[in-house]
Amino acid sequence: MRELPNKLVDRFGRSVDYVRLSVTDRCDFRCVYCMAEDMTFVPKPDVLTLEELYRVSQAFVELGVGKIRLTGGEPLIRNNILSLIEQLGQLDGLDQLVLTTNGSQLQRMAGRLHEYGVKRINISLDTLHGRKFRHLTRHGNLDQVIAGIDTAVATGFERIKINAVILKGRNEDEALDLVNFARQRAIDIAFIEEMPLGLIDEHDRALSYCSSDELREIIGRRHTLQSLGEPAGDAGPARYFSMADSPTRVGFISPHSHNFCHLCNRVRVTAEGRLLLCLGNEHSVDLRAVLRSPAYTPEILKRAIIDAIAIKPERHYFDNSGEPDIVRFMNMTGG
Ligand code: GTP
Ligand code: 5AD
Ligand code: SF4
Repeated sequence: MRELPNKLVDRFGRSVDYVRLSVTDRCDFRCVYCMAEDMTFVPKPDVLTLEELYRVSQAFVELGVGKIRLTGGEPLIRNNILSLIEQLGQLDGLDQLVLTTNGSQLQRMAGRLHEYGVKRINISLDTLHGRKFRHLTRHGNLDQVIAGIDTAVATGFERIKINAVILKGRNEDEALDLVNFARQRAIDIAFIEEMPLGLIDEHDRALSYCSSDELREIIGRRHTLQSLGEPAGDAGPARYFSMADSPTRVGFISPHSHNFCHLCNRVRVTAEGRLLLCLGNEHSVDLRAVLRSPAYTPEILKRAIIDAIAIKPERHYFDNSGEPDIVRFMNMTGG
């Protein structure tokens, strides 16, 4: 028997020590850049059970993964998600249990998330206008999300980051107000260029493209932004900037204008248990089949993961010019 390695390294020499685990593809919102209005979700029996999610997490941690980000859809609407979070919070070797959420459930859940060991949370917020918020999310309630953010801020997480996807003609005029929203709460904010995942007909992605450089210019007119350096390792894909008069960091996630694939340290597991090696490609391995096979052992699962890392693609080739590059919607992977 080959000995199992204690870390995952791909054929380009990138260490994979971060897993983004989508615990459900469902969401209480339908953001216009993420989903179509009418979505068909994965049938419940096809979604990994909480026990399967735990087994997958354990396998990755034994292979050297120190960071797991729970995503969705909206992770906090999954039934009994807190019981999984409580278990993961106690998983030896998992240094960073973090979460990306739309904020709708934070008022009632932030306290327990913190108590169970979630260190940092990222919360989506694209506009500060109630009607526009309703329009962009199709179902969301801005007041509820802001109250959720404020509850999280009061709860004492190590770091909170706002994610704003900026679309030309829709919310690029709000960049400064969103920065101020973050400054008032001493939390971080990242501006994200829209990625062409899933066929949407609500807007034309070519026309709505708003580059990070343009936003940086707008924000730079009001605040002096000091570069904190290029993204590296655990910093994630964002290029961050600081401001002398505030602890808030302003980040730009620019898959189109500043490719960061050479630094990629992450893989994703979709809600149905597909280990996806890159957000912008379809290379994947079916971990659910391994988990549900009568021959399943933790060792076989780990071998499947090790073998999958060998097919991690070098980079994505996103372009927003017309047809989506990838037909899967963002809610399958949680970003
Ligand atoms: P950390 O890496 O933990 O700091 O978080 P993050 O900012 O990467 O995670 P978050 O869930 O907040 O995602 C913010 C945006 O970054 C989303 O739009 C994601 O789709 C995008 N993103 C995250 N990882 C990648 C990646 O590997 N490639 C691309 N193209 N986009 C990514
Ligand atoms: N392009 C860029 N970001 C997206 N998100 C969802 N869909 C897209 C897309 N097509 C963002 C959400 C959330 C994060 C997880 O991914 O706004 O903040
Ligand atoms: Fe839901 Fe997030 Fe997608 Fe919006 S971006 S529909 S909140 S999964």
